[in-house]
Amino acid sequence: MQRLRDKVAIITGAGRGIGFAAAQAFIREGAKVVIAEINEELGRGAEKKLRATGGEAVFVRTDCSNSADVQGLMVRTEKLYGGLHVLYNNASVFLNKLDGPVSDLAEETWAKVLAVNLNSVFLCCKYGIPLMIRSGGGSVINTGSSASVMGIPGCDAYTATKGATVALTRSMAVEFGPRKVRVNCICPAGIETEMVKASNLDNPNFDAAYFFKRAPLGRFGTPEEVANLALFLASDESSYLNGAIIRADGGITVAPIS
Ligand SMILES: NC(=O)c1ccc[n+]([C@@H]2O[C@H](COP(=O)([O-])OP(=O)(O)OC[C@H]3O[C@@H](n4cnc5c(N)ncnc54)[C@H](O)[C@@H]3O)[C@@H](O)[C@H]2O)c1
Repeated sequence: MQRLRDKVAIITGAGRGIGFAAAQAFIREGAKVVIAEINEELGRGAEKKLRATGGEAVFVRTDCSNSADVQGLMVRTEKLYGGLHVLYNNASVFLNKLDGPVSDLAEETWAKVLAVNLNSVFLCCKYGIPLMIRSGGGSVINTGSSASVMGIPGCDAYTATKGATVALTRSMAVEFGPRKVRVNCICPAGIETEMVKASNLDNPNFDAAYFFKRAPLGRFGTPEEVANLALFLASDESSYLNGAIIRADGGITVAPIS
């Protein structure tokens, strides 16, 4: 049985990484997927690969921090597929070399990170949730991070957005539960993507040997391992989960410092 049959899903930042893996999983389970991606080349590439598997996927070039783009995305989704059941707010940036401690942080960096990582969630929910309610309800999946649950030096702007996303998840869960929209949040860490390359592997201060010794599973996670959780949250199998903040990090954020 296809777990997302007849469901329409928007995944932001689905051009690569976790978002693309989620698009593959959602399509495999019968969903129609809208790839809301800022990068034209990544978006078109993802659409092509997904369609090659026989899936129903469409790329809508979207800067999720831009209100007009997000409004256009919702209009296009409704026109194409008649409704919306899953909104996966996955797009974010980690501005390696620009992000840092508040005392050293340029105001433009702060503004840019808040716009892409947090305003995007606000805008996609502001314009997506009314469509979900008109479609009979659905599932919003937000994206936090290890930075949502612990202090990580050197990325205060990113951390602020990921903490706020968790808080917003809780309040939206309470607000929209009665209208049949569930809101949950995945907090990944150590998932092998371009972002982890920028935040860890390309960082001269990243101590890979220490990381792998300290990580309880002793390895990075794969985008597919997060996509499996997103699939569960998108499907009706998670029908009693609302306001849940779930870590997908192999236990990194609960491990003792050794
Ligand atoms: N990889 C990890 O270990 C890790 C850890 C913690 C949190 N996360 C979170 O998981 C999510 C996915 O991360 P990833 O590792 O797959 O990242 P990634 O950098 O590989 O992919 C992010 C995608 O978002 C797109 N994007 C960026 N700005 C956008 C915008 N304004 N509008 C639309 N699309 C935009 C990018 O083009 C890219 O395709 C992010 O929210 C990230 O913060 C990842």
